[in-house]
Amino acid sequence: MRTVIAGTGFYVPDRVVTNEELTRYMDTSDEWIVERSGIRERRWVDEGMSGADMARRASLMALEEAGLEPGAVEAIVLATLSPDHFFPGTGVFLQKELGLPGIPALDVRTQCTGFLYGMSVADAWIRTGQHKTVLLVGVEIHSTGLDLTTRGRDISVLFGDGAGAVVLTADDDGERGILSTHLHADGRYAEVLWAEFASSKHHPRITRELMDEGRHYPRMQGKEVFKHAIVRMPEAVQEALTANGLTVADLDLLIPHQANLRITQMVQRRLGLSEDQVVSNIDRYGNTTAATIPIALAESVRGGRLERGNLLCLVAFGSGFTWGSALVRW
Ligand code: UT7
Repeated sequence: MRTVIAGTGFYVPDRVVTNEELTRYMDTSDEWIVERSGIRERRWVDEGMSGADMARRASLMALEEAGLEPGAVEAIVLATLSPDHFFPGTGVFLQKELGLPGIPALDVRTQCTGFLYGMSVADAWIRTGQHKTVLLVGVEIHSTGLDLTTRGRDISVLFGDGAGAVVLTADDDGERGILSTHLHADGRYAEVLWAEFASSKHHPRITRELMDEGRHYPRMQGKEVFKHAIVRMPEAVQEALTANGLTVADLDLLIPHQANLRITQMVQRRLGLSEDQVVSNIDRYGNTTAATIPIALAESVRGGRLERGNLLCLVAFGSGFTWGSALVRW
């Protein structure tokens, strides 16, 4: 029994925010952003749009592609670092929107690697026969939590909003499906990319003074993250290939987490892949964290970049640090 990706879907908000628009809020430039990250524009939600709304739209697209009604979903796994509320998780709000009371809804909190952690759990549920059909979603609303002053420019120019979803189903044809998933974390680096406040370690969880200092905004030591990402991502791809007795020569398509075009290019070169074997859409969406991989996957399917029998690798690295990979026979 294998887990197959039966449908893919994505949703990004209509509002396009160009680099030029960001220059109106902070001291930055289109040139700096494009040169350092490859990002040209990103999407931001309009007031009132929730993560659950975006997740529902992406999920319905994935269900349609799979030829399934929402009622076929037996479990929801939702990855996000920007939940609609401190609790409960966005997964149950998505469940409510889809009208699926009673089934389990699990939120995953492993940031940029959240979609792959979620895939690993869903794959285990399916292979052990616990659930036949799992809806897996990555969704992020960054725009409401960014420091749009010059103080926050190193981070705020990078992130965007969006959602991506896949429908995972059981299949016993023996060829297709998820071959393996490989997950890692190293909490020694937890504070290298994090949002320190609001924090339940403190009473109150946030104060006006802390907000004035911008301590509720995400903070990142960018170079440190970069340095680890370009080592861990190729490593995780190799790990997945080796575990299946395969090599880079067998790989048809790599979908890396979209954090920075320079990271993607370095991963591509380190693995000896050609440019057209590695998916990049960061120029249009920026970094949508848990949503980058499923959005890129849904676009790859629609762009005809995957054919039955292709070997696909998904790989991510990010806050935690967390990183991982998944190998899929399409
Ligand atoms: O998905 C989560 C994982 N995240 C990542 O993988 C991100 C990894 N890191 C990166 O992508 C890069 O480190 C960044 C894109 C964040 C930054 O690029 P960098 O080449 O490492 O730049 P830097 O942080 O060393 O900054 C260079 C200069 C600094 O000025 P000084 O000190 O040289 O005068 C910054 O203050 O660029 C300045 N700077 C900016 N200038 C214009 C930082 N942000 C901006 C900005 N616009 N938005």
